[in-house]
Amino acid sequence: MEKKNIDWGNLGFGYMPTDYRYVSHFKDGAWNAGELTTDSNVVINECAGVLQYAQTCFEGLKAYTTEDGRIVTFRPDLNAERLEQSAVRLRMPVFPKERFLEAVDQVVKANAAFVPPYGSGATLYLRPYMFGSDPVIGVKPATEYQFRILVTPVGPYFKGGVKPLTVRISDLDRAAPHGTGHIKAGLNYAMSLYNIVDAHEQGYDENIYLDPGTRTYIEETGGANIIFVTKDNKVITPKSDSILPSITRRSLMTVAKDYLGLEVEERPVALSEVADFAECGLCGTAAVISPVGKIVDHGREIAFPAGMEKMGPITQKLYDTLTGIQMGRLEAPEGWIREIK
Ligand code: PLP
Ligand code: COI
Repeated sequence: MEKKNIDWGNLGFGYMPTDYRYVSHFKDGAWNAGELTTDSNVVINECAGVLQYAQTCFEGLKAYTTEDGRIVTFRPDLNAERLEQSAVRLRMPVFPKERFLEAVDQVVKANAAFVPPYGSGATLYLRPYMFGSDPVIGVKPATEYQFRILVTPVGPYFKGGVKPLTVRISDLDRAAPHGTGHIKAGLNYAMSLYNIVDAHEQGYDENIYLDPGTRTYIEETGGANIIFVTKDNKVITPKSDSILPSITRRSLMTVAKDYLGLEVEERPVALSEVADFAECGLCGTAAVISPVGKIVDHGREIAFPAGMEKMGPITQKLYDTLTGIQMGRLEAPEGWIREIK
């Protein structure tokens, strides 16, 4: 199969329409068979639940070309499970896991020409999403929905690739206690937009959100979980009910323990202890692992020893091992890689 003529090495993290997207409609209590379509536009009623009350949730995963030329996805079963949790919390119908996996396979296969070649530095990003599509004017769930998957080839999420980032401690909150921080609801991102634009205007790459209850513990950034490495090489990640259970972060904890033989810990991390850590990274499907060089807390700079030019040594090992698994250079744990045939 011939690849599209795309400058893979210079892609940023943006949207480019591809040949096919997947769509299934929910009506009268059931999902229809679903199909691929070439139409990139969605036409819905002006009073659709998604437009009036933001009834929408989404997922993010990637397809990779392996060293030996296969096309694979990484732990898509966990995206199906998390989408189910998001849907339940937003009173939306669940799109069944087996159907989710088949839809992922189908849409990647149909867009194989857009899956970046091995070694290009790019990947195919998949965005499964669901929304309420029929009219609601009183506050209640819609009765009709669409489940869709669009795909787009992407490069690094942060400009500058894997150069260490400067992030700030945010004054605004991302999630309320007992709110929706643990699901991938569009509303969590809408309310972060003011803050991310402000962060960029002030020269920061991202916002670190603190726990909304006490504002003393580290939660996550607007689009990624956080990992820290201690001076004695322990990998630590914040535990909280109001952060998104990142599939990348869960995978990295396994990689740290089982591949690198490191001690790992998931526990509340106080802002006051961050200055003692040796390394920090943002992790997620889009972010992969993006090293943090500096955290700025209202003028107080917390600089990590690896500096602003390169990743810390443990972050680098985690990055190499995770991407090695995703690109087929290293053997994956059972069930982590799904080949598209
Ligand atoms: N946290 C937030 C708020 C995110 O948007 C994402 C991205 O999906 C993540 C964490 C990372 O999750 P994952 O590793 O499953 O992509
Ligand atoms: C992802 O990593 O898949 C996300 O959804 C994060 C988003 C900020 C692009």
